Amino acid sequence: MRVFVTGGTGHSGSYVIPELIAAGHEVTGLARSDSAAAALSAQGAKVRRGDLQDLEGLKEGAADSDGVIHLAHRQDLLPSGGIDAVAAAELPIMLAYGEALEGTGKPLVAAGSIGSPGNLGRPATEEDPALPGGDEYKGTLRARNVVETAVVGLAERGVRSSVVRIANIAHSTTDSAGFLTTLIALAKEKGVVGYPGDGENLWNAVHARDVASLFRLALEKGPAGKYWHAVEDKNIPLREIAEAIGSRLGLPAVSIPADVLMVPGYFGFLANIVTQNYPASNLITRRTLGWEPTRPSLLDDLDNGHYFSAG
Ligand SMILES: NC(=O)c1ccc[n+]([C@@H]2O[C@H](COP(=O)([O-])OP(=O)(O)OC[C@H]3O[C@@H](n4cnc5c(N)ncnc54)[C@H](OP(=O)(O)O)[C@@H]3O)[C@@H](O)[C@H]2O)c1
Repeated sequence: MRVFVTGGTGHSGSYVIPELIAAGHEVTGLARSDSAAAALSAQGAKVRRGDLQDLEGLKEGAADSDGVIHLAHRQDLLPSGGIDAVAAAELPIMLAYGEALEGTGKPLVAAGSIGSPGNLGRPATEEDPALPGGDEYKGTLRARNVVETAVVGLAERGVRSSVVRIANIAHSTTDSAGFLTTLIALAKEKGVVGYPGDGENLWNAVHARDVASLFRLALEKGPAGKYWHAVEDKNIPLREIAEAIGSRLGLPAVSIPADVLMVPGYFGFLANIVTQNYPASNLITRRTLGWEPTRPSLLDDLDNGHYFSAG
């Protein structure tokens, strides 16, 4: 298959491209700079110069391909507009892909997020739709709604569209800017590894190589209009993550009272998300696509030590 990939130089994308090429696909990656173009070529991909602001270019890239994997996101909008601005920028991109692919039955697989299911009292599943976009849903939940609804809606227009909801923590030996590295940096700065309250709130995680294999399977054989969950089998209490980091750094893991003043005091901009409970299931993904997460789990990857080798 000739596959057009955006975000191929990012954390997930740098695993997705080799995964696709190893499976015999021909990849064209979007590059907005010389360094991105060089990185894509080094991975064995062809290069299409352009950026996410160029919707006509994205349409052409999609129309010239047998399928699209969309991983790029406008993280440059985060400081000024937050996650809502990043999501707002996604919508015209998805509609542009829709115009290019309408009626073709070609696959479009886009990155999404596992949000908090709220008080469902059970893990979020692939059958949980994007949440309603009302004011009661904030931040990542509202962002998720906009993008996921747009992508899955394209199934009604003859696009084999689906969303791979990536775990809250995507980890690997090349993870340099994710949640774990932020937690580790915070711990080094504060001299303790904090977790909110009793730390029993569950987080989901996935290895970036397993993310890559799921994108490939969704591209190759995923039915239209579906959500897939790129999460490893076990949901992990945040306290266990803090303890694993603490044992590596030789620092105590301590409870930070879940208090509106105290939590922001330790966690800064992460305060809104660290208290969330994010249990998620991958059962439907595994059963439908035959996907199995086989790479090291989050706790094994922390135990491997590579997150602690620099500084
Ligand atoms: N835990 C997770 O990692 C997680 C969870 C849920 C959802 N997701 C989503 O999964 C997707 C992939 O995440 P990631 O961690 O792999 O991303 P990442 O490492 O931040 O990489 C971002 C990619 O987007 C590209 N990009 C940014 N702005 C662009 C623009 N204006 N034009 C063209 N390309 C642009 C970057 O290219 P350059 O090399 O040119 O900068 C890079 O390839 C994102 O949509 C993210 O929101 C991730």
